[in-house]
Amino acid sequence: MTASTSLLQERGRDGFRHTFGSAPAWMALAPGRVNLIGEHTDYNDGFVLPCALPFQTIVAAGPRTDRQVRVRALDLGDALDTFSLDQPPQPLGQGDWRDYVRGMLLALDATLALPHGLDLTIAGDVPHGAGLSSSASLMVALGTLVRALFGHPPDPVGVAQLARLAENQFVGCQCGIMDQLASACGAADHAVLLDCRDLAVRLVRLPPDCQLMILHSRVRRGLVDSAYNQRRQQCEQAARHFGVRALRDVSEQQIADARPLLDPVVWRRARHVVSENARVWQAADALPVGDLTRMASLMSASHQSMRDDFEITVPAIDQLVAIVTAVLASQGGARMTGGGFGGCVVALVPTDAVPAVTAAVARHYRSPEGANAQVHVCTAASGARAVALGAAEPEPTDPNPAPRSPS
Ligand code: GLA
Repeated sequence: MTASTSLLQERGRDGFRHTFGSAPAWMALAPGRVNLIGEHTDYNDGFVLPCALPFQTIVAAGPRTDRQVRVRALDLGDALDTFSLDQPPQPLGQGDWRDYVRGMLLALDATLALPHGLDLTIAGDVPHGAGLSSSASLMVALGTLVRALFGHPPDPVGVAQLARLAENQFVGCQCGIMDQLASACGAADHAVLLDCRDLAVRLVRLPPDCQLMILHSRVRRGLVDSAYNQRRQQCEQAARHFGVRALRDVSEQQIADARPLLDPVVWRRARHVVSENARVWQAADALPVGDLTRMASLMSASHQSMRDDFEITVPAIDQLVAIVTAVLASQGGARMTGGGFGGCVVALVPTDAVPAVTAAVARHYRSPEGANAQVHVCTAASGARAVALGAAEPEPTDPNPAPRSPS
């Protein structure tokens, strides 16, 4: 267990005692994620290759005898929310943290028929608003915790599905399933190859002697929801043109042939998704054999495709990627990660090149407001797990069958 994990656990536990006057019975931890490659492919039934991060959300819980839920957010000014499972509250809107808790608890009650309510405290160190999935980690932690607390066996994929459903239906965000699956199924030192159609999970070993660098551009992610939904619609339009369920079913040859027939913008959106799916598979081959040159060219092609075909990067992010790429040459890669329009760059960097990348970014990068990039250096961490307090910490559960090759 890392020092930050034990500090977070302590905070969750002490906050619980302080708020509710008793010790919590269970705790669950779920990480944020960074996506190495495979952007905007998840809602096209495609493939993604994210890693779970050593930043996590921790939730401590104790059962109640009635059907109330009381929840304290220790990192948000100790804000308190109370509601009854029998009188489902309405969403508050605008990404309020309470909607994630309410939506997930109501979804859990609907599927597991919870016998009673619970008291909860939440703490975490996943950076907010950076595109590192702090909200997915909260919902996955809640799902993992509630299953353990009420005696249900672990079900990482089921928890991810429920978290996504609650985010789509209650919170009102039309995200895909990558963030939740990565948080639920991640593993230390591995990326996870996710098939977003059949939800198969395969662990892909990251090269030894490499670090993940996450560079936050400090560009506020504007227009994310409307632009995200517009991209989804354009992908659906392209899938309809090809007469398939989703762009995952379209080949690179079909894309090339369709150029004169499709609206040029829709065609470029589709080309991004189809080419990105192929890059995910190539990256899953390159990583375990430590082929950093291949990773460099795949990550660079992914960034260009997001910039030119999917049009979701911004100039500051392009500049940040260029700075990192110039230092790495072909020994490691960098690209924008996440939904786009700001947020973070992810880089796969040989450990001995980390100081040079850090120095170049400090020297050459400024956001449009003049801020430095915020730099995190880490390796991939484990996915969500529940801990019975007082008992030994269980091993993270192993997720599921391997994905098939792309069709
Ligand atoms: C956001 C969504 C994900 C995924 C990415 C883009 O993070 O929550 O489901 O679509 O954008 O890859």
